[in-house]
Amino acid sequence: MNPPHLPSGTAHQHGPLPDFLPTADGAAEVVPVVAPTGDRIWLVTAFDLGRSVLTDERFSRAAAAAPEAPASHPMRPDPAALTSLDPPQHTRLRRLVNHPFTPRAVAGLEEGIRRQARRLLAGRDRIDLVSQYAMPLSAATICRVLGVPKAEHTHFADLADRALGVTTGDFAEQGPARDALRAYIGELISRARRAPGEHVLGALATAYDEDGTLSHDELTALVELLLNAGYETSIGQLGLAVVTLLEHPEQWHRLAAAPHREAAAAVEELLRHTPVVPMSFTRVARQDVRLGTVVVRAGEALVVSLLHANFDARAHRDPTRLDITRRPARHLTFGHGAHICLGAQLARTQLRVALAELAAAAPGLTPRTPLSALRWRQPEAVVRGPLALPVHLTATRAGAVPG
Ligand code: HEM
Repeated sequence: MNPPHLPSGTAHQHGPLPDFLPTADGAAEVVPVVAPTGDRIWLVTAFDLGRSVLTDERFSRAAAAAPEAPASHPMRPDPAALTSLDPPQHTRLRRLVNHPFTPRAVAGLEEGIRRQARRLLAGRDRIDLVSQYAMPLSAATICRVLGVPKAEHTHFADLADRALGVTTGDFAEQGPARDALRAYIGELISRARRAPGEHVLGALATAYDEDGTLSHDELTALVELLLNAGYETSIGQLGLAVVTLLEHPEQWHRLAAAPHREAAAAVEELLRHTPVVPMSFTRVARQDVRLGTVVVRAGEALVVSLLHANFDARAHRDPTRLDITRRPARHLTFGHGAHICLGAQLARTQLRVALAELAAAAPGLTPRTPLSALRWRQPEAVVRGPLALPVHLTATRAGAVPG
């Protein structure tokens, strides 16, 4: 078997990454690892096999949400969440929330994201790209999709920041903060039931009250998932993307030379090279499944390393090289199959606009602290990313003569 290539281990990747990811060259396509829960799980490291496993209905998310199932992370999945369902329950729920995430609906949000990005950058010569750029952009976008009133976007961002530890990195604080976020979500749902309005919250409240298509637990879990999954992932991915570009100045200069032309391809390559969520959710085999030389037994758990799949030399030419002009930059960063990221188009649009506007406003972008001194989210976090990313917004390219 030809091993996937993640050279020098994962050394060039910033954290946190799970301890059990193989760091040496030569990992097999499917390897047994021990998760922090103490459970033994199978890890798929290859691109093609990863794709096929993620579409294989013999591997179940619902079985992975059962209390006794082996788990890759100490935080147990909510059995009522969209992410924990198999078809046909999954298909029914996903159809209810799909509409605002279609390419057409997302295109309608782009101008608003661009105006906000420009406002956030205007008139400044320095900024923390996490708390002052990625966070407000991400909060406003997901709140707009769901129908959270504008006056409450900052309140949501503060609650979500503490609940998820996006800039605090503080795990002790997260229990009470999660309760506060859940209470706020409950309040949003009650309001949407009284006055549904046009947005997702209203549509879900109607499905709950009128059609009975949604149970109370499903409704709460869905809103929670959309707010959380739509928030911290985009923030972490933008932070990781900018750090990666600062570490590859020639790639940053290429982007800055034609930001609006290069940004879409740059985003795909950055998603491939530095995926914010390095692993898929856990699946549990419903029956014995042979994967190459390995047999995954019924009841055993399996996870796809999206990071390793993105570096598999059989699927990507010269995978270790960051090349923002790579076409196509194929990756598994949004997963694949039935559970493929619902917000992929939204995330791509946010990243493209945020990066293009940043590169246009500050082609000479420089970090204010050495990148090696950046603080990162804690290893328990499912989503990785820097806690802060202070930069100078320099309008002229380093070394260029101001014109
Ligand atoms: C760069 C940003 C993002 C990345 C890398 C990302 C990644 C992922 C991945 C890998 C999965 C599937 C995991 C699996 O099947 O094992 C997923 C699912 C999901 N994502 Fe994202 N995501 C991002 C942004 C968003 C945004 C902006 C939203 C907006 C609400 C979102 C909502 C969801 C939802 C609802 C699911 C579950 C879908 C289902 O179970 O059917 N994500 N995401």
